[in-house]
Amino acid sequence: MSVQKEIKKITTNTLLKMKAGGEKISMLTAYDFSFAKIIDGAGIDIILVGDSASNVMAGHETTLPITLDQMIYHAQSVVRGIDRCLVVVDMPFGTYQSNSEIALASAIKIMKETGGHSVKFEGGEEVVDSVKKIVSAGIPVMGHLGLTPQSIYKFGTYTVRAKEEDEAEKLKKDALHLQKAGAFAIVLEKIPAALAKEVSESLTIPTIGIGAGQDCDGQVLVMHDMLGINTEFKPRFLRQYANLNELATAAVQQYIKDVKSKNFPNKEEQY
Ligand code: KIV
Repeated sequence: MSVQKEIKKITTNTLLKMKAGGEKISMLTAYDFSFAKIIDGAGIDIILVGDSASNVMAGHETTLPITLDQMIYHAQSVVRGIDRCLVVVDMPFGTYQSNSEIALASAIKIMKETGGHSVKFEGGEEVVDSVKKIVSAGIPVMGHLGLTPQSIYKFGTYTVRAKEEDEAEKLKKDALHLQKAGAFAIVLEKIPAALAKEVSESLTIPTIGIGAGQDCDGQVLVMHDMLGINTEFKPRFLRQYANLNELATAAVQQYIKDVKSKNFPNKEEQY
C-alpha cells in the first residue's frame, strides 16, 4: 500500500517517506473553502494557498499586490475545507525579504490566524537566515527556486530560468542551502528537466516541480489552469484536465435563456 493511502493526515514527515519510497507527491493550489473541500476530498497530498491568488482570484497582472491579510483570508477559507492534506501558505511579496525578524513575524501571523500547517517563500541563499529562524520557531518552510514570480520585474520575463551554466550552478547551491537551513521541500518552477532531475537527486527533501519535468519528487499546478477556468494561460507545461470555463459559460447562458423565456422557475421550483 502507498504511504499516501496508509496515512490519515499528510505531514512533512509523510512527504519525506514518499520521496524515500519513490512515491510521487501531488500538490494543487486552492484559495477558497469549496474548492479546497473538493481537492482534499479527491485525495491530494498538499494544497498550496498560492500568492497566485493575486492573479486568479483578484485579477492582478502579477503576484506582487496581494497582502498578508488577503493571503490569510484565503488560507483560513481553505483550512475550513480540508480534513487530510497538508496546507502550505505562500508568504506574499514584502513580508519576508527585509530581514529574518520580519519574516518570522509574518510566518507566525499566518500560522496563528489561519490554522495552516506550513509556509512557503521564494529565494535561495538570500533567504536562508529567514528559513532557519522560522524553522527554529517550529514552523515548516517550503522553498521556491527557478522562476520566482515575485521577482518578475528583475527577470523581465516569465521564460524558462537557469538555462545558462552560472544560473544553474547557483540554483543547485541554493537548493542545498535551503535543505541545510531546514526547508522540508522545494518548489522548482520552470527550469530545464535535466537540471530539476539533478537537483532532486542531490537532495533528501522532496522537490515539487511546475514546468520542471517528470523527475521531480512531486508536481504542482495552479487549480484555475488545470481545471480550465482560466483559459488564456497556455504554457507548454500545463495539462488541462477539464474545461470548466466552457461548462460554466454554457450553464450561465442556459440560465439567462430560461429566465428570459419564463422557463425558470417552474411550478415545482416555487413555494
Ligand atoms: O503561487 C503559486 O501558485 C505558486 C505555484 C506556481 C508553485 O507558487
